[in-house]
Amino acid sequence: MKRIIIIAIALLSWTLAKADEGMWLLSKIKELNIEKMQQMGFKLTAEDIYNVNKPGIKDAIVGLGNEGRPFQHFCSGEIISPNGLLLTNHHCGFSAIQAHSSVEHDYLRDGFWAYEMKDELANPGTTASILDRMEDVTERVNACLNDGMSEGERYAAIDSISEIITKEATEGTHFSAQVQPMFEGNQFFLFVYTIYQDVRLVGAPPQSMGKFGGDTDNWMWPRHTADFSMFRIYTAPDGSPAPYSEENVPLKPKHYLPVSAKGVQDGDFAMIMGFPGTTERYITSFGLANTMDITNTIRYEVRTDKLAVMREGMEKDQKTRIQYASKYASCANYWKYSNEQNKALRNLNTMGNKQAIEREFAAWVNADPARKAVYGSVLADLQKGYADMKTLETANVYAQEALAGPEAHLFAYRTGRVIAKLCDETVSAEDKATLREALKEMGAAFYKDFNTDVDAKLFAVLFKIYNDKVGADLQPEIINFINKKYKGDFNKFAADLKAKSVFMNEASFDAFVAEPNMKKLEKDLAYQAGKSFYEIYMKINASMAPYNTVLARGNRLFVRGLMEMNPEKAWAPDANSTIRMTYGKVGSYKPRDAVFYDYYTTLKGVMEKEGPAGGEFEVPARLKELYAQKNFAPYGNDILSVNFITDNDITGGNSGSPVINAEGHLIGTAFDGNSEAMSGDIDFEENLQRCINLDTRYMLWIVDVYAGAKNLINEMTIIK
Ligand code: ARG
Repeated sequence: MKRIIIIAIALLSWTLAKADEGMWLLSKIKELNIEKMQQMGFKLTAEDIYNVNKPGIKDAIVGLGNEGRPFQHFCSGEIISPNGLLLTNHHCGFSAIQAHSSVEHDYLRDGFWAYEMKDELANPGTTASILDRMEDVTERVNACLNDGMSEGERYAAIDSISEIITKEATEGTHFSAQVQPMFEGNQFFLFVYTIYQDVRLVGAPPQSMGKFGGDTDNWMWPRHTADFSMFRIYTAPDGSPAPYSEENVPLKPKHYLPVSAKGVQDGDFAMIMGFPGTTERYITSFGLANTMDITNTIRYEVRTDKLAVMREGMEKDQKTRIQYASKYASCANYWKYSNEQNKALRNLNTMGNKQAIEREFAAWVNADPARKAVYGSVLADLQKGYADMKTLETANVYAQEALAGPEAHLFAYRTGRVIAKLCDETVSAEDKATLREALKEMGAAFYKDFNTDVDAKLFAVLFKIYNDKVGADLQPEIINFINKKYKGDFNKFAADLKAKSVFMNEASFDAFVAEPNMKKLEKDLAYQAGKSFYEIYMKINASMAPYNTVLARGNRLFVRGLMEMNPEKAWAPDANSTIRMTYGKVGSYKPRDAVFYDYYTTLKGVMEKEGPAGGEFEVPARLKELYAQKNFAPYGNDILSVNFITDNDITGGNSGSPVINAEGHLIGTAFDGNSEAMSGDIDFEENLQRCINLDTRYMLWIVDVYAGAKNLINEMTIIK
């Protein structure tokens, strides 16, 4: 008897110890997840998280986006006060902090705190989405589709029914909506959001804390980073979303998260909600080879050189360092990811896992003639599709990474088309004045973060890579020209570009806008480079389109077959920038043989990692002083916890997501994943994959003690 109980307990704790794969759809939690979550310790109900009819945790979850593409959430965040105070990562606020920084006010270096609401800084163009409701609309969409349709007909039918559905959901309201495909286009969900347009910067620690460890520590555990920044959402006086205006008032949210200062223990339940960007869990071995050999390899190769050029410029002076800080950070993030992902994919034999799934799928298909008729050619089609596309895809990635690596030519082409209108006699003087105004603004925004020498060097280095790596038939006109006129000397071309193009600095651009000239525009080297880049990029993509169609169809059928093969399984769709929930728990792990990683780090570790001033591991003097005083109460006793890890299933886009405990209180903010399991976007590694989080106690201590921003502490509900 006793033995049975012991075995039962062992079995129970074994199942409990397993992390759960899945970025779950909120409307399915009740059906698919809540029971397991409650077994693991969650004390609330599915309705407390998401309920169409009453406020819940989902009302505190924010997707950050940009005007023009508000559904492509680049990060997540959470509302932590009744006045719309928003917590997210430092790296999510980075470009806003950078945009407000100058040599006089270096908020990246020194941090920024608004001690009164009037000092909060507007960020026009930044959007914040909060989900109102979601709905499975698969049946309605599928009713418009049939298996005999071509892919083109299928897309057109999906677009037109989606338009009808979103219109119904938004007409006469302030809502915005989108229909998103799930499971490679086998299911469809409607998401209805309120999208706020006035999001102001409230606070950020210095980057020596918010980005402590820099690229060396990025994607790594153990970590010691205060990766947070704070914003506030504002609305029109009536509570509706509105662009920045002085009259706007702080958002009165339907729900905000109480902030726990109680800390976490190994094994504690943890739930994360946010907006994961992209995963490819259902990719085939053929797609995986494409990712490893083409996308990741080329991206890493080109960005290594691109980063070196930017770094050289940034080391010269503070102005250039501020100008390129955000561009550098976003380039470096997926530079490192590409390399670490390939390493993890190899170490974990992800290719072998994918091939095993395909063998199982093929056996299942071949066992039944009816299945064979539908799925019989799926794997072969995918294999052939990727093989046929290889040369084009290689050129495509080189074009994105190398040809679109420098910036002046892209700006030249973008503005060149407007400048052409200034030269057009049929355009009225009045319209021309408006266009000049627009060009002036575009110029000011572009040149604020532009350095002529850095960009010229990028042309020399990156255009040469494209020249060397891509075949003659896919070269843009400008590269043929460089080979002919400059005998392939890319440095010489770059020097000429710098000396002659009006787009290489703001003064010559402004002068040209004042006196535009079509002939001069067409002869301008940056404009020519931009135009020929677009031409070749369009050509490559048009040539790829038929293969992409084959792949889309093959992937859709493959996933449909997998689901049919395994109907009992709770299937989770890949991430696609829509709101999701993942549950799991706090926990240590073993990254490799004989190595154990504890589940949390402390401020002591920051001191141990300290490196030279100006470097990635600089520790601000004030932090050292406060550390020596050890007054951590009420956020710690003699130690202060800094970061902790959980086994939740997250990916890029989830950055800034709340980590929520069994009571529904905020215990952390997710900010990274661990390199050992960077294959996780393709194959979830349940024993290895960890989500790296900022402990709310470190955040509170920094706001309260380090920054002395009592105004912010006072508006939160802190659970002690
Ligand atoms: N790897 C993190 C992500 O993709 C970004 C971390 C930013 N920090 C840094 N040191 N670069 O969300």
